[in-house]
Amino acid sequence: MKKRVAVIGAGPSGLSVLRAFATARNKKEKIPEVVCLEKQKDWGGQWRYTWRVGSDENGEPVQSSMYRFLWSNGPKECLEFADYSFEKHFGKAIPSYPPREPLADYILGRAKKSRVRSWIRFESPVRFVQANKKGGGFTVTSHDHKTGKELQEQFSHVIVASGHFSVPNYPEFEGIETFPGRVLHAHDFRSADEFKGQHVLVVGASYSAEDIGLQCKKYGAKSVTFTYRTAAMGFKWPRGMDERPLLKKVQGKKVTFKNRSSKEFDAIILCTGYQHSFPFMDTPLRLETTNRLYSPGLYKGAVWNDNPDLFYIGMQDQWYTFTMFDAEAWYARDVIQGKVKLPPKGSRTRDMKAWAAREEALPDASAMIDFQADYVRELMKYTDYPAFDIELTQKEFKKWKKAKSDNIVTYRNNTHTSPVTGHEQPAHHTPWWKAMDDSMKTFLGKR
Ligand SMILES: Cc1cc2nc3c(=O)[nH]c(=O)nc-3n(C[C@H](O)[C@H](O)[C@H](O)COP(=O)(O)OP(=O)(O)OC[C@H]3O[C@@H](n4cnc5c(N)ncnc54)[C@H](O)[C@@H]3O)c2cc1C
Ligand SMILES: NC(=O)c1ccc[n+]([C@@H]2O[C@H](COP(=O)([O-])OP(=O)(O)OC[C@H]3O[C@@H](n4cnc5c(N)ncnc54)[C@H](OP(=O)(O)O)[C@@H]3O)[C@@H](O)[C@H]2O)c1
Repeated sequence: MKKRVAVIGAGPSGLSVLRAFATARNKKEKIPEVVCLEKQKDWGGQWRYTWRVGSDENGEPVQSSMYRFLWSNGPKECLEFADYSFEKHFGKAIPSYPPREPLADYILGRAKKSRVRSWIRFESPVRFVQANKKGGGFTVTSHDHKTGKELQEQFSHVIVASGHFSVPNYPEFEGIETFPGRVLHAHDFRSADEFKGQHVLVVGASYSAEDIGLQCKKYGAKSVTFTYRTAAMGFKWPRGMDERPLLKKVQGKKVTFKNRSSKEFDAIILCTGYQHSFPFMDTPLRLETTNRLYSPGLYKGAVWNDNPDLFYIGMQDQWYTFTMFDAEAWYARDVIQGKVKLPPKGSRTRDMKAWAAREEALPDASAMIDFQADYVRELMKYTDYPAFDIELTQKEFKKWKKAKSDNIVTYRNNTHTSPVTGHEQPAHHTPWWKAMDDSMKTFLGKR
């Protein structure tokens, strides 16, 4: 079969794949036809903020879980593209924790420069991917909302880059149906000022819980209580915020926790994570995993071991984001280009087992950061993805972790050093807790 590559999704992971092929094209390599199928009207994935919840204008499930006033929760230096620095994009160094709008501008800035938009078919959700019984390759069925028609096409390779923070994980709690106020999942949270003056219960103890809880307090919630299943986050929260063990039952406004304490709330926000969901993949091709650093079934975290013409990009729990997607995209590209030769299935399986065993034994966050850094390093060994100072990013990640545990309210005021340019970035003009306007204009504005 003639090489023809389907990329599912034009979020950061899919755009990394398109960039990887564009880079090869620019180096005068012969590249196959690349068709990116994107369900939304535009590119950017999660970073394409929408006010909508539930369904989009075509009746497709809304992808983005991002909300107004969202700022990067990690230093931007740890996600900086090795081939496109922030300084190159903005024409100057900018603070280390940008809000969503300038970060989206940066991601899309590189995508525009890649000249790949014509490879993307928008409003084209993929409905089904099946391996052909004879002759290799895949039959991909998609729906074109512009024409209303269903399309069946042949591809030699499929790259799934459809994200995994869009399908909410909804736990059940006794009596929650009796709660008179709003109950929503983080996926549907859009604006903290909606909760001004309210007592808010946040279920969960990870990034969404931490950030949404803090946002609610910053924009005027009367109190925020976190309730955790496994372990408290343990930050020194501002006054009016506390953490309690998991809720046991809800009776009207009153919520009782496992430690027998109780409190009345006006709203409950479930920050209980997401499901990896690929209903459009035929069962033998479908990745089934939780949010972890090394997903089962993926050689080098990206190649479907049972059928190495299929790839998944960006499926890991994420310390690294854009650089990791790039490392995976460049690797997948070079497997497809025949520049990287895969070993036989037996040795692939042994390699996967070794990485999975290492993941299982990771003792703490610092070790997780090192694990994912090693993973990115490992992939970069095989391709021409430009070198950047990964060791520095490991240090910056650890500096960030420490700053968070020292003060959860002020860590975003810190500065970090770029692993691409080597420059220390400037401080933001306004401390994060006081910065109420998250527009790009204000962020980049006065110094
Ligand atoms: C609330 C929130 C905040 C975050 N904040 C940060 C942050 O500050 N810094 C950071 O680095 N990362 C952050 N992330 C992580 C974020 O997931 C990544 O930055 C990035 O968006 C992942 O890119 P992706 O392309 O893998 O997935 P997505 O961004 O989800 O993009 C997937 C794309 O696939 C498309 N798609 C899905 N299904 C189909 C289908 N069947 N057919 C066709 N197209 C389809 C979607 O429309 C979408 O465009 C955050 C995530 C969340 C949920
Ligand atoms: N830029 C930003 O500021 C920002 C903001 C929000 C999110 N994000 C990103 O979004 C991504 C997703 O983060 P996330 O926090 O939504 O998901 P997550 O990291 O997968 O965490 C899910 C949380 O839900 C809890 N949970 C799951 N089932 C539960 C149950 N039955 N009862 C109680 N608790 C339950 C988990 O508890 P256990 O600990 O017990 O497993 C965990 O604390 C991350 O990449 C993050 O960086 C970024």
